[in-house]
Amino acid sequence: YGSAAPLVPPSPDLEVVRQAAMGCRACHLWRLGTQTVFGEGSPNARIMFVGEQPGDKEDLAGRPFVGPSGELLAAAMEEAGIARDDVYITNAVKHFKWIPQAGRRLHQKPNAREIRACLPWLEAELARIKPKAVLLGATAAQSILGSDFKLTKNRGRFVESDLAPYVLATLHPSAILRMPDQELREASRESLVEDLRLLAANVD
Ligand code: URA
Ligand code: SF4
Repeated sequence: YGSAAPLVPPSPDLEVVRQAAMGCRACHLWRLGTQTVFGEGSPNARIMFVGEQPGDKEDLAGRPFVGPSGELLAAAMEEAGIARDDVYITNAVKHFKWIPQAGRRLHQKPNAREIRACLPWLEAELARIKPKAVLLGATAAQSILGSDFKLTKNRGRFVESDLAPYVLATLHPSAILRMPDQELREASRESLVEDLRLLAANVD
């Protein structure tokens, strides 16, 4: 199976890396997505947020977290007192994986091989931005921390990792939006804000 590793340029300049990622065909997902959706944000960001993969809106816009989950994340960041300038936002997988259903593009979870193929891009982002803190959604957490990682047990707790001094896994904004129960949804949103506050307190 493919890996993006040979495509990652050694340049310390993230823009050079981004340009290289635009032509990535290391796994079959490039055929499904409209374009590579690379991370975005200040190269001096102290916090990096790693989602799963671009959704429908992100795929069309070519930018991460511009759809409904991005709105939720932005609002949670504001509540936690985190400035946009302080955050770099990216995904574990850079192409949108979907199947057609009733004339729409239905999101499909990336599998372990796809996540592994794309990991060199995420590693390149981490190596250049060197964030002090990383916030992971469930998929990113499992891909980076191993499939034994349990979000239910470890949400909101710092986990040891060589990714950054502070690594925290939290509920993915899309998972919160999908919760059918309103009370649970609001409580989960509050948990996300809490986790962001904890990160913010540790980057000061
Ligand atoms: N969900 C993600 O994981 N990433 C995005 O960019 C958008 C939605
Ligand atoms: Fe390359 Fe990642 Fe896209 Fe696969 S998903 S083609 S590894 S950028």
